[in-house]
Amino acid sequence: MTGLPLASAARRRLAWLLLLALLAPVTIVHAEARVLIRFSHVVAEETPKGLAANRFKALVEQRSDGRIRVDIYPGASRYNDNDEMEALRLGAVEMLAPSLSKFGRIGFPEFELFDLPFLFDSIEDVRRISQGPIGRRLLVQLGRQGLVGLGYFDNGFKQMSANRPLLEPTDFLGLRMRVQSSRVIAAQFRVLGARPVSLPFSETRRALATGVVEGTENPVSNFWTQRMDQYQTDLTLSRHGYIGYAVVANRRFWQSLSDADREVVSSALRDALDFGNRIAGTQNEKALEELRQAGTTRIHTLSPAQRARLRQAVQPVYDELAGRIDAALVQEVQETLRP
Ligand code: LMR
Repeated sequence: MTGLPLASAARRRLAWLLLLALLAPVTIVHAEARVLIRFSHVVAEETPKGLAANRFKALVEQRSDGRIRVDIYPGASRYNDNDEMEALRLGAVEMLAPSLSKFGRIGFPEFELFDLPFLFDSIEDVRRISQGPIGRRLLVQLGRQGLVGLGYFDNGFKQMSANRPLLEPTDFLGLRMRVQSSRVIAAQFRVLGARPVSLPFSETRRALATGVVEGTENPVSNFWTQRMDQYQTDLTLSRHGYIGYAVVANRRFWQSLSDADREVVSSALRDALDFGNRIAGTQNEKALEELRQAGTTRIHTLSPAQRARLRQAVQPVYDELAGRIDAALVQEVQETLRP
């Protein structure tokens, strides 16, 4: 494969994005004078994010009597991790819910604090940060790039998979692990002696199938709905890190809404995020149960001693990456969690 066809493919894709943005610079669907919200995400519909997005659509359309329409583009059907932020900024979509790990790449490394391994012991811990003053401050910062941060919601804790059990730090040596575009996650695998490969979520299954990568990490709901079990013989319930999302809107779109419409959208989103948070845990448990039933992948649980060794092995990530995230912020988070 040469670089040239890829480069021209990327140019064509960007030109297409620009054309979409030009053709649809406003969100009014003229004939019925309705407002259209295009909401893109990269996961399957039966995941916590997919279900919360569908709930948002139902609530907005019901509460606006159909005056506001929400079109959901699930499963990276229009935009994947590499171009969805650009699509949002150009106005080709109005809303997204990227994982928090994907904001570092666009200039917000502070969001990568959520990727620090073994930082959170429970979802309650996560909420003390995301739903507290630190989380609110991070959302406000998104304004720097013409984005409006509207709220957070959970998927859950990540588990590790490969074609061998990952129980001890040495099990990671030399493994090519697919990672999200987060320097903290890349560092986590590098200190374990693995080779992190950053890929869009939508390419992960294929990369596992073709051997481009040999392992990955995700909550079970993402692992199962992508049928990654077909290419991974072993899954370790490591709970070593967290995946959650921030809902973001294009600021021009947000400001173009009437006060009444903005209130309808905001209240629907609040309720959809509450719903997403309520079902996230059970969706992951359901996915784990289905995976067990399928019998395709061996499931391992870490003993307390194995977990402690893994936790110890990734500690250098804190010193290495605190500066990138913001050392004072990392300290504030740690003090909030363990006063
Ligand atoms: C991933 O890229 O692994 C996840 O962020 C996908 C998602 O949105 O849950």
